[in-house]
Amino acid sequence: MTEAVLLVGGKGTRLRPLTVNTPKPMVPAAGVPFLAHQLARLKSAGVDHVVLATSYLAEVFEPYFGDGSALGLRLTYVTEAEPLGTGGAIRSAADALTSAPAEPVLVLNGDILTGLDIAHLVERHEAAQAAVTLHLTRVEDPRAFGLVPTDETGRVLAFTEKPTSPAEIVTDQINAGCYVFRREVIDAIPTGRPVSVERETFPGLLADGAHLQGVVDRTYWLDLGRPDAFVQASADLVRGVVASAAMPGEPGPYLVLPGAKVAAGAKLGGGTVVGAGAEVAEGAVVEGSVLLDGARVADGAWIGDSLVGAGARIGARTVVDGAVVGDGALVGADNELRKGVRVWCDTRLPDASVRFSADC
Ligand code: GTP
Repeated sequence: MTEAVLLVGGKGTRLRPLTVNTPKPMVPAAGVPFLAHQLARLKSAGVDHVVLATSYLAEVFEPYFGDGSALGLRLTYVTEAEPLGTGGAIRSAADALTSAPAEPVLVLNGDILTGLDIAHLVERHEAAQAAVTLHLTRVEDPRAFGLVPTDETGRVLAFTEKPTSPAEIVTDQINAGCYVFRREVIDAIPTGRPVSVERETFPGLLADGAHLQGVVDRTYWLDLGRPDAFVQASADLVRGVVASAAMPGEPGPYLVLPGAKVAAGAKLGGGTVVGAGAEVAEGAVVEGSVLLDGARVADGAWIGDSLVGAGARIGARTVVDGAVVGDGALVGADNELRKGVRVWCDTRLPDASVRFSADC
């Protein structure tokens, strides 16, 4: 059995205000904290022990997931008082691992949704006898990611984090945030100071001549770091575009959680989730969106590709398109919020106070 470390301690700044009250891995996607989907994937890959490397809002994980027995896993929580970065977090999690020095340990970013065959990645790692094996995926625009060119055998040649000049964009292969480490490589990461695995550990290993193996796999992959991607991931889970054993229901055009109220004349679609105790009134349309627990959408409102936070309210006829409304915010009637707008938690927007266009 393989052990895994899940990195769940980041501040999730790009996802604010969703991450003001909730750490990114605990924000619900398809009705359950996103982390539940990752744990289900690890379980189905044959993992039995997961170390959760927490830091930001660390106290919320254990009350929800407990010792993991309900999921058929053993969970251990390791918390850095101060965030130590990805490498520092992996190193501090090592104290809870039981694997032998040469055994493989899975390490996953806590904000990746992927259909990757994890067991296959471990097999490739063993076959290559690599120090670290990385899942690589291909994207059209790699500028926001870490580039990882490889030779024809998949051996890693370089790491270029978030390239800025065209000359640096030598490949469309990017670091997909899922690794297999030989246990002793984790133990060699320095303790007690921040370390970035992407910027320090991997380039350092390469410089020392270590064998880093890349495995390019173009199955479903999405980095949930930004709000539009998070909403997309939730909708894809609900529609079954990517399967998850943690989905609370069958795949379909929408998911309505117990205790939610949806009026007969409301329309839901595109993988929308209506959270527990949330309400959607007559004539409202909600497409490809996430309404968290207790959110309320008034009559005639139109919500598309958006996330409405817990207990937030959207007034009558208001349009929310590609936007995020933070927990507890009150958006009055006849507003128009579009294109990446972020309404902070508990904000109050009066009726007809924000428009995006002049004509409606
Ligand atoms: P942004 O602030 O929006 O960049 O998000 P983030 O804080 O999650 O950072 P990033 O997306 O680069 O992190 C990748 C993964 O590593 C995520 O799953 C984070 O939770 C995790 N992570 C990042 N920094 C730390 C850290 O200092 N400690 C721990 N335990 N996890 C971290």
